[in-house]
Amino acid sequence: TVYDCPLLELPRVENRAGNLTVLQPGWNCPFDVPRVYYLYDVPGGSTRGGHAHKNLRQLIVAAGGSFEVLLDDGRNRRSVFLNRPYYALALYPGIWRELHNFSSGSVCLVLASERYEEVDYIRDYKAFASWKALHRAEGSSDGA
Ligand code: TYD
Repeated sequence: TVYDCPLLELPRVENRAGNLTVLQPGWNCPFDVPRVYYLYDVPGGSTRGGHAHKNLRQLIVAAGGSFEVLLDDGRNRRSVFLNRPYYALALYPGIWRELHNFSSGSVCLVLASERYEEVDYIRDYKAFASWKALHRAEGSSDGA
C-alpha cells in the first residue's frame, strides 16, 4: 500500500565546503541501480508521473528544491513533500504516482531498479485500478 513506501533518511557527510549524500546498492539502496534519470527545468504548475509500474522499484530524491509526490494504491492516497536532498522516497510496484508543485530550479533524481521498458508502465488510471483489483483477487503479495 502507499504506507509501505518508506521515506529513507540518507547519510550526510557534512563539511565546511558543503555536504555530500551517498546512495549505494547493498548498503542503503535496497536494489541494484542499472538506470538513473532526473527531471529538471519543470515549469511551475506542471504535473509529472501520472502512471504506475508493474515491476520497477525506484528511489526519488529532491536533489534540489522541492516537490510533492502523490501516491495512490487504488484504495488509499498519501502525499509526501520532498524538500531535502538527504531523504529518498521508496516507490514499489503497483503504486500510482504524480509529482506536483515543483519549485523553481528543482531537480528530481530517480534511481531505478530496471532499465527503461515502456511495457512496465500503466499509464491509464482506470487500467491501473483494474490491475490492482485483479492482483488483490489473486492474493498477490506485491506489497500494494
Ligand atoms: P515518463 O516516464 O512518462 O515521464 P514522467 O513520468 O516523469 O512524466 O517519461 C517521459 C518520456 O521520456 C517518455 O516518452 C519516455 C521517455 N523516457 C525514456 O526514454 N527513458 C527513461 O528512462 C524514462 C524515465 C523516460
